[in-house]
Amino acid sequence: MEQRREIEARMRAKARTWGYREVSTPTFEELELFTIRSGEGIIDEMYVFEDKGGRSLALRPELTAPVLRTFVNEGRSLTKPIKWSYYADCYRYERPQKGRYRQFWQFGIELIGADSAMADAEVMMVADELLRTAGVTFVMKIGHLSFMRTLLKDLPAEDQKKVRTFLDKRDTDAASAFLSETGRENLAAPLQQLISARTLDEVFAVIGEIPEADRIRETFRILDSQGIKYEINPAIARGLDYYTGVVFECFAEGLGAENQILGGGAYRLAHLFGGEDTPSVGFAIGFDRVMVALGEQIWMPFQPQVTVVFTPEARERALTVARELRASGIICSIDLMGRGFSAQMKNAGKSADYVIIIGEEEVRSGMATLKNMKEGEQQTLPLPDVITSLSAQ
Ligand code: HAM
Repeated sequence: MEQRREIEARMRAKARTWGYREVSTPTFEELELFTIRSGEGIIDEMYVFEDKGGRSLALRPELTAPVLRTFVNEGRSLTKPIKWSYYADCYRYERPQKGRYRQFWQFGIELIGADSAMADAEVMMVADELLRTAGVTFVMKIGHLSFMRTLLKDLPAEDQKKVRTFLDKRDTDAASAFLSETGRENLAAPLQQLISARTLDEVFAVIGEIPEADRIRETFRILDSQGIKYEINPAIARGLDYYTGVVFECFAEGLGAENQILGGGAYRLAHLFGGEDTPSVGFAIGFDRVMVALGEQIWMPFQPQVTVVFTPEARERALTVARELRASGIICSIDLMGRGFSAQMKNAGKSADYVIIIGEEEVRSGMATLKNMKEGEQQTLPLPDVITSLSAQ
């Protein structure tokens, strides 16, 4: 938990520097919130139940829909764009394996009410920065739904969706096979070409110029100007149905099959929840996967562990010293086992970086003896000097 809290704190602090403010939504919502536009993948995996009033409810499988509902219910009068962040648990009835859980945590942001290359680029820059601050090595892959939509424009919506679902599962062979089976083998070759395109020029060579092209080029220019590293990947399709524009995913090294640690994109949901049609863009980090990717190599700030050791007659003073250390943010323990002085010292030797000795002499002089347990040296100092010295560690 300490490691998780450390990474969470870094992400939260970074999101705040970009002006994203934290929101919280309930763990369960009306089922309909997620069935309107979340896509089959998620609907099949939801934890659904009926409450005592006969309402159909679901444990949230993600936070974009709940956050947009909150925006429609309570945030409509706020000045746009609205910049919100969240860190919360989600529930999906998936087959559990390493990096895939039925309860997992997402750290995400939603930028609501901005519709520009700057907005798209900002959200991807925040994604990049949050993963970097966590210390994870990753690749960001960016696509745009208009690429596939243009290529597949003559297909019925249902069939387009099927192709997207195959692509989301990274099963390009199945996507090609599906096109052949349904009599569109003429699209199979362009689909392969589009999927393997790695520059915008290659993409537009397959699908032609599209109305969104200028905005897409500008978005990449902004990212390039800020040194953001990414790959263009038109196969990024996203498993959720609400996306409308740019889509992106980040993949960590060494995670095996469950290596997607972040997903996001531009979407529209507010109008489905009774609000105005509002362009939005956001992402969510799979926090548990980030922690798996980091493994043991998390850098935690060193905080010395201090034990106050005392003789029986000095207990009150020892308690006061411990309280003052804690008030200065120093981690401090005191014997709770009724041990004598030398047993306390011996025990502290196993876990403490520093010991503060409070005996008769220290009670009389109002001083404290600070002992460095690694180096063995000790000095008797006024308590404020002990605190300064420990705080500087
Ligand atoms: P998502 O891709 O479904 O997108 O989930 C985001 C991230 O959550 C995934 O990339 C993955 O790292 C993590 N994740 C998903 N399922 C599991 C699981 N069963 N166990 C562990 N981690 C998991 C969304 O949820 C969108 N709401 C993202 C978004 C925000 N789009 C716009 N704004």
